[in-house]
Amino acid sequence: AKEPVRVLVTGAAGQIGYALVPMIARGVMLGPDQPVILHMLDIPPAAEALNGVKMELVDAAFPLLKGVVATTDVVEACTGVSIAVMVGGFPRKEGMERKDVMSKNVAIYKSQASALGSYAAANCKVLVVANPANTNALILKEFAPSISEKNITCLTRLDHNRALGQVSERLNVPVSDVKNVIIWGNHSSTQYPDVNHATVKTPAGEKPVRELVANDEWLHGEFITTVQQRGAAIIKARKLSSALSAASSACDHIRDWVLGTPEGCIERKHSLLIFSSVGTLQGTWVSMGVYSDGSYNVPAGLIYSFPVTCCNGVWTIVQGLPIDDLSRKKLDLTAEELTEEKALAYSCLS
Ligand code: NAI
Repeated sequence: AKEPVRVLVTGAAGQIGYALVPMIARGVMLGPDQPVILHMLDIPPAAEALNGVKMELVDAAFPLLKGVVATTDVVEACTGVSIAVMVGGFPRKEGMERKDVMSKNVAIYKSQASALGSYAAANCKVLVVANPANTNALILKEFAPSISEKNITCLTRLDHNRALGQVSERLNVPVSDVKNVIIWGNHSSTQYPDVNHATVKTPAGEKPVRELVANDEWLHGEFITTVQQRGAAIIKARKLSSALSAASSACDHIRDWVLGTPEGCIERKHSLLIFSSVGTLQGTWVSMGVYSDGSYNVPAGLIYSFPVTCCNGVWTIVQGLPIDDLSRKKLDLTAEELTEEKALAYSCLS
């Protein structure tokens, strides 16, 4: 039998936490044969609710769940964890300035970074969900120098999955037949949902989404704005922000990172083949917010969402995709916003 893996969820008493912890305990994140020990962190005002979640986890009798740590102590929460899903944060309240929200979250991510750096297992993989997700992840990276920049990511998989869902609805095809959409940039309304390289499985082989939709107006307009503003549409409908889809996408993010994207290892060996025959030999990629190395002329040193493939627990940015002029502008616009956020975050630190 496999040794249990310790998985940290911060903000575990919140609404994403409530949807996420049972998924982890059922093996949705790390696979059906991987036992887990859940570490759940929240703040003292939520301690009683957190304990209630722990009681329910016990009551659900999950066979894979080998233990639950529910705590308000950051060090206890971080000790020995190999996966950290950072959902806890300070929400924007009515009348608050962007800078005030940023300042609260920068302080939280700075202190949790040092706890993770000191007490998490070596090679711990971190996923930041709490907003501003990219910038929180960047702060975490800066203040956890012992954690490799390769191990600090943020969630844009929800946006990626939303884009797959929109294409699937539009073309009336199963969502599992759609692949290779891309979310570029920030997890905010400046993100660029890009379908230029996306394909759909058809009886006649893989076909580009652009060819099948054949309506540029929709692709360049409503498709992009629907994905960009989906979070707001969910709040309007539910009076609460996305939770089940966020939790599910967080599981997708970690699962693909740890267990690999489809053909993720083969691709690495044949990377030259992949783009020579787009639509036939193309592998599958997913979107992840990762530390930019300057690929696609995105400024290095930002946490920016790119298309990636994963093999053996390592992500690699998909290289060589042609970027047209319209896309270039959108890639730059969302990078500019992230550069500004980074400056704002630093101004909160000083
Ligand atoms: P929520 O307010 O229901 O839960 C947040 C939890 O974090 C609360 O229980 C709160 O007590 C806790 N918390 C606050 N400060 C903390 C700290 N210092 N340490 C540990 N826990 C702390 O919010 P919800 O709906 O669960 O969303 C969580 C975050 O995820 C928000 O920032 C939201 O904006 C973000 N989000 C990100 C998405 C993405 O795709 N990246 C999608 C949806 C939400």
